[in-house]
Amino acid sequence: MENINKLEKIKRPWVVAHRGYSGRYPENTASAFEAAIGAGADMIELDVCLTKDRIPVVIHDQTLERTTDGHGLVSEFTLSELKKLDAGSWFSPEFKGESIPTLEEVLLQIRGKISVNIEIKPESYESAGPADAIEKQICIMVEKFGMNESVLISSFEHSFFPRIKLWHSKDNNQTSLRIAPLQEKEFSEENVLKLCKGTEAYSFHPDERFLTPSLIKILKASSFRTIAYTINDEKRIEQLAKWGVTGIITDEPELMWKVLRKLNSNE
Ligand code: G3P
Ligand code: MG
Repeated sequence: MENINKLEKIKRPWVVAHRGYSGRYPENTASAFEAAIGAGADMIELDVCLTKDRIPVVIHDQTLERTTDGHGLVSEFTLSELKKLDAGSWFSPEFKGESIPTLEEVLLQIRGKISVNIEIKPESYESAGPADAIEKQICIMVEKFGMNESVLISSFEHSFFPRIKLWHSKDNNQTSLRIAPLQEKEFSEENVLKLCKGTEAYSFHPDERFLTPSLIKILKASSFRTIAYTINDEKRIEQLAKWGVTGIITDEPELMWKVLRKLNSNE
């Protein structure tokens, strides 16, 4: 479902495919996104950073070694250099030739098919905020493709958020993209709520280890959604579904569907 407004009507947790269907396909590649759509995910999650020539590309690590046959920092290579790398073979020989996609390519691939959680990597944050800063490029691209209602922006770097809000209010005079602070360390419930209010968040994305039923309840009472990452264990998916999370970010969308079907049949 490509429109987040429609997802809001769903009573079960949203199936959010982490880096695409990364349990079975090479993460953050066209194959993984296609497979996530095929598996009936509600949303894909992907990671974005900038190349040397300042193009937003979809890759998780700052370095190339783990998921490509390249070496060094992503930010030290131009897009045309990065495009020569193989981003599939590390996962399995059958994916040889898969390339690092640009954000633009992925948005065009998924437009009209599924919504997307774009995670901006903190290393791409620039305090000077140049005209082609990553967050501005994303806002412009999403707007150009008419995808404002399909996109949720998250980051561990919360300083991106006021800029996204500002871009929409000043330059564009329209409602901001949905925003989601990510959590990597333990915060008190009070601080989580403060963070969500301060950033005018749409949802809060906690590391599942820090999630409690009470936090979900407190956030819900203030109309904030909770989308937890990254859960691949059946029992834990079941538990979080019972706690009433809005969404679960998983490498295994089909496994999550299996759990949801089981819960549904038990009702
Ligand atoms: O967006 C949820 C999750 O992807 C955050 O952590 O390291 O997998 O990008 P990471
Ligand atoms: Mg991520």
